[in-house]
Amino acid sequence: MADAGAIPAELLDALRETRHVCILTGAGISAESGVPTFRDAHSGLWARYRPEDLATTEAFLNDPALIWRWYRWRRRLVASAQPNAGHQALARLAELVPRMTLITQNVDGLHQRAGTQDVIEFHGNLFVDRCFLEGCAVDCSHDTDVPICPGCGSKVRPGVVWFGEQIPATALDLSFRAAADCDVFLSVGTSAVVQPAAGLIQIAREASAMTVEINPNPTDFADRVDFAIRASAGTALPELVDSLEV
Ligand code: APR
Repeated sequence: MADAGAIPAELLDALRETRHVCILTGAGISAESGVPTFRDAHSGLWARYRPEDLATTEAFLNDPALIWRWYRWRRRLVASAQPNAGHQALARLAELVPRMTLITQNVDGLHQRAGTQDVIEFHGNLFVDRCFLEGCAVDCSHDTDVPICPGCGSKVRPGVVWFGEQIPATALDLSFRAAADCDVFLSVGTSAVVQPAAGLIQIAREASAMTVEINPNPTDFADRVDFAIRASAGTALPELVDSLEV
């Protein structure tokens, strides 16, 4: 029985021959940077709140100052975190294959800080400010509890996708095209329960790509992918890239 976390030789062969690798990452790849996964229990002041009750338009309209306190706490937490070996390995992988599309459900910007270019941010970015009314990114001051759009005077919100909101159309289109075009698809650190991100794995399977899950815990896709690697991203991804570079 091969070690559950081992990198299959067939995967390495496929990556050496690949034309296009598509990668979907979730909160698990940032866990080793100390960024709690979305479903980890909140700590301290925020322990009494559920993210699902804060990351919504209704919550923002109801108490924008509270929502900004939460997001400023998350910005400080993420700003003090560093990309880990998993993020860095994916940045190295992009140099070793003809084409790599990285789609992330994370809003922490750690893939970009590790050096990966053209990251598709399915759920936006924690550090972007957006006018609540116009939807555009704005450059605003944060010297008030709730920042104000310099253009129209509306409240400003964090540039993330809230529960119940649509995924940005461009991110959705590019992601579906990449999943349908790739010949290797890696699902890394995601519970694969939230649509439409989870649907990308199915699209890749139907396009006959080799599908791989990297997660210490099994997900609903574990028995449907070609390889389920039971390991953390920070362990499996550097091992995978080191083996390719040999
Ligand atoms: N390496 C790889 N995977 C890990 C690690 C690790 N070190 N640690 C945890 N995991 C796995 C967990 O086993 C779990 O399957 O990461 C997954 C994290 O799952 P979620 O917390 O559900 O995060 P995610 O899949 O990104 O959630 C998707 O749901 O709540 C929304 O918008 C939110 O983007 C989020 C989306």
